[in-house]
Amino acid sequence: MLCLNSNALLSLLAFLVWSSIVSASPHLMRRGSRTNPPSGSIVVRPRDAASGEFTTIQAAVNSLPDDSSSRCIFIYPGTYREQVTISRPGPLTIYGYTTDTSSYVRNSVTVTYSASAGQAGSDCASATLIVNKADFNLYNVNLKNTFGRSPQNGQALAVCASGSNQGYYGVRFYSYQDTVLAETGVQFYGRCYIEGAVDFIFGQHGHAFFHKNTIASIGPGCITADGPSNSTDGIFVINDSRIVLSSHATSGTSGHVYLGRPWEEYARYVNIVVFSNSYLGSHINAAGWKQWSTATPNTAHVLFGEYGNSGPGASGSRASFATKLSSDTGFGIANILGSNYGTWVDTSYM
Ligand SMILES: *[C@@H]1O[C@H](CO)[C@@H](O)[C@H](O)[C@H]1NC(C)=O
Ligand SMILES: *[C@@H]1O[C@H](CO)[C@@H](O)[C@H](O)[C@H]1NC(C)=O
Repeated sequence: MLCLNSNALLSLLAFLVWSSIVSASPHLMRRGSRTNPPSGSIVVRPRDAASGEFTTIQAAVNSLPDDSSSRCIFIYPGTYREQVTISRPGPLTIYGYTTDTSSYVRNSVTVTYSASAGQAGSDCASATLIVNKADFNLYNVNLKNTFGRSPQNGQALAVCASGSNQGYYGVRFYSYQDTVLAETGVQFYGRCYIEGAVDFIFGQHGHAFFHKNTIASIGPGCITADGPSNSTDGIFVINDSRIVLSSHATSGTSGHVYLGRPWEEYARYVNIVVFSNSYLGSHINAAGWKQWSTATPNTAHVLFGEYGNSGPGASGSRASFATKLSSDTGFGIANILGSNYGTWVDTSYM
C-alpha cells in the first residue's frame, strides 16, 4: 500500500521495481520486517519524536488533511495509552513496527484503553479504535480494551469498525465482551488474533470474512453474535482459522463456549454465520450454537453453518437450528465481500 504524495514518488519507482521482483514469490511480501516508515508516512514514536513526528496516534491522524488523498502512518514500538478515532474520507493505512509482517506474533505496537459501553454511552464509543470510514487498512498493531469483566456494562470494544473496504492484517484484538464490532460495510480480517469471552465478534450490518485467524476464548460465552439488519444481512464467515481456549481462560470455560448466538431477529432476514475449514478445540460445547436467551431465542431465521472443520470441537450433537453444510459454495470470499475484493484486500494474507 502506497502513500501517493510527492515525497513518495521516488520510493514508488523503487517499489515498482521491487514488487516486480518479488511478485514471482508472494511469500516474500508477507514474511519481511517493517522496521522503518514507508516513504511518505507520518511517523509516530512514543518518545524523542523529531520535528514533524507525533507521540500519539490520534495526533498523527488529526494532522492528516480532511480530503480524499491516500495517506499512511507508521508507528514505532511502544504502548500507546489512548483512544483513537478515525473518520477522514481518503484512504488510510496504518503500519505498526514488526520484524515479521506475516503474523501478529512479533507485533511491538500496542494501543490500550479502558472503557465500557456503560461509561462511554454506547458500544462503539467504548472502543480503543473507532474507524468510521471506508478504505482503511491496519497492519501489525495490538488493540486492547482493558475494562475486563463486569456484571453490568461489560461491553468493552477493542475496535468499532464501520465502513467498507476495511482490512485488518496481523492485528491482535483483546477484550472480554464485544471485542470486535464489524458493524457496517465489507471487511477482511487476515492472520489476526481475536480474544474474548462473550459475543466477541459481533455486528448488525457488516459482511466480514475472517481468514487464518486465531480466535481464543478466555471465559464462557458465544464467540459470535450476529444481528441481521432490516435491509441487508449481517454475514460472518470464519475460514481456515484456529478456534482455541486461551491459556489465560478462567477455569470452567471449557465446554461452555459456543460458536454463536443470534443477537436479533427479523422475519425477512437471516443471521448468517459460517465456520469453514477451521480447527475447533475441545472447549466448544457439543451443541455448537446457542439461542440468544430463553425469553428471546431468536432462532427462527438463522443460518448457522459448519463445513469442513476438524478438531474435537467439530463433532457433537448440534443444536436443532444449526446446519451442517455439504460444501462452502456460496460462502467464499467473493460471495461475502463482492467479486471485486481483490482490488482492496491484501491477498498476500490469504
Ligand atoms: C432500518 O434500520 C435502520 C438502522 O437501524 C433504521 O434507522 C431504520 O429506521 C430502519 N427502517 C425500518 C423501516 O425499520
Ligand atoms: C478457505 O480456506 C481453505 C483452506 O485454507 C482454502 O482452501 C479456501 O480457499 C478458503 N476459502 C476462501 C474463500 O478463501
